Amino acid sequence: MIVYAHPYDKSYNRAIRDATVKGLGKAAHEIDLVDLYKDKFNPVLSVEDLEAALRKQSFDPVVIDYQRRIEKVQHIIFIAPIWFESVPAIMKGFLDRVFTHGWAYEKVEGKGVPKGNLTHLSATVISTLGSPKFVYRLFYNNALKGVLINGTLKCCGVKKVKWFMLDKIQETTEERRKQFLSKIEDYMSNLA
Ligand SMILES: Cc1cc2nc3c(=O)[nH]c(=O)nc-3n(C[C@H](O)[C@H](O)[C@H](O)COP(=O)(O)O)c2cc1C
Repeated sequence: MIVYAHPYDKSYNRAIRDATVKGLGKAAHEIDLVDLYKDKFNPVLSVEDLEAALRKQSFDPVVIDYQRRIEKVQHIIFIAPIWFESVPAIMKGFLDRVFTHGWAYEKVEGKGVPKGNLTHLSATVISTLGSPKFVYRLFYNNALKGVLINGTLKCCGVKKVKWFMLDKIQETTEERRKQFLSKIEDYMSNLA
């Protein structure tokens, strides 16, 4: 499954998505594409979401549909730009509303960390950002690692997560942009 969050079809992230689809196609993988903007996904977690999560359920058929689809895949790929150090709100809302208590993870009495249920999944995260990597690491503590990789995916039982990042995107050369796309396509075509 590809979970994609960018509103603009001519964005660089869209080119990453296309390279991902091309690479996976070479390896003859079946792809389930979730384009959050095209799906008009509502990222706002509601009282009904919370009440359902207390009963270890989901109430929204859209959320339930994403969950059923995630149950069927082996690998999940997140493609999004870094916005204010994290993923765009629409993707954050996807995590908040779809990776629910009782489905993605269980609380364990007396333990500070939950038990993850999504042990059938491995994951890839692909991010682009304006600032240099070292700034993101030193000043913002690699925020996405906390928010998405450790704080969501690993917490929900996903063991193997690979993270690609293209930094300094606004000032980078056309050649470096192309190289990154080839790297992604190659990686996807070799994904086991
Ligand atoms: C709302 C918004 C917030 C952003 N926040 C950050 C940020 O916190 N750190 C950073 O390095 N770049 C930030 N950027 C720059 C984006 O990461 C950059 O524009 C994007 O990765 C470029 O990819 P695209 O051409 O596919 O949009 C931000 C851009 C926007 C629009």
